[in-house]
Amino acid sequence: MNVLSVESSCDETSVSVIKDGTTILSNVVFSQIDIHKAYGGVVPEIASREHIKGITVVFENAMKEASVTASDIDLVAVTKGPGLIGSLLVGINGAKAFAFANGIPIVGVHHIAGHIYANAIEQPLEFPLIALVVSGGHTELVLMKGHYQFEKLGETMDDAVGEAYDKVARTVGLGYPGGPLVDALALNGENTYPMPDLTKQPGYQFSFSGIKSHVINLVHNTKQRNETLNIDNLCASFQEAVTEVLVQKSIKAIEAFDAKMFIVAGGVAANKGLRKKIKKRIKNVKTSIPAFDYCTDNAAMIGVAGYYQYMTNHSVDTMTLNGKSRVSLH
Ligand code: KG4
Ligand code: ZN
Repeated sequence: MNVLSVESSCDETSVSVIKDGTTILSNVVFSQIDIHKAYGGVVPEIASREHIKGITVVFENAMKEASVTASDIDLVAVTKGPGLIGSLLVGINGAKAFAFANGIPIVGVHHIAGHIYANAIEQPLEFPLIALVVSGGHTELVLMKGHYQFEKLGETMDDAVGEAYDKVARTVGLGYPGGPLVDALALNGENTYPMPDLTKQPGYQFSFSGIKSHVINLVHNTKQRNETLNIDNLCASFQEAVTEVLVQKSIKAIEAFDAKMFIVAGGVAANKGLRKKIKKRIKNVKTSIPAFDYCTDNAAMIGVAGYYQYMTNHSVDTMTLNGKSRVSLH
């Protein structure tokens, strides 16, 4: 069964072809990051226009690379949300046009389900599992008792962890997206700056706005006093506090639900400090973190999720499928 999938929820235009749910025949990602860098973040209107410019070429390249034609495709999967509405609509309309013209069924896929199912590329998911979802828009712990059963255990009360990374990066004058830059500097630094204790939130809840403000104040106060800031150490201290709470609460959930597997999903899963800490601390359960290319936004993850969604629910969408900037996974 060949799935052609499309992802365009933010600043990556991506199309992928996947065989039988896990064999990636192609995964073409056209990133707009260099265009948005000049503005210090994603500009939604520019993002939509770039998706329009890129979408047909990305479709063609993905099919060429996979050596398939439209008649080889059995299902079309596309990100339905959450994301930037203008960006989503380009991918959705491209996918609907392709599905309609070729008489292929289509399914709309939740973006976070895609990030979660990126973990099914290399090995089958085993249930019950705990998923730590850490992206630019989401931070949550999810319990799955079977395919496509998502139970939210807790989430952030304010900023998502990727968002906090990006804001800290901007405050210390690094570029966009800030997460990978803070991560790189943190690896050279030491945990010397005191940070607020993030583990105090009740249950499986998170909060990152306090630490973000703490870093902003620290940077401004240091400047006012004409002191020098050790940016490597600041990044290392921030990263230590953030990864610590993510790992501690994940362990708590793994133990409470007797999980057979622990998976990490979303752009922040690429964080080297987080990956290292998970490897060191989470040993008694099978653990999966997607390969770097499948951590940040890509269509392959949407294809894998779309495959399992179709296999589990046996339902497809109609041509009324629409994008939604906010949509619940649960
Ligand atoms: O999942 P994603 O590609 O897009 C969303 O669905 O949000 O995640 C993007 C986020 C950005 O905030 C980016 O700074 C962060 O993931 N990110 C990282 C790293 N790589 C990407 N954060 C920390 N360390 C990284 N290595
Ligand atoms: Zn994402």
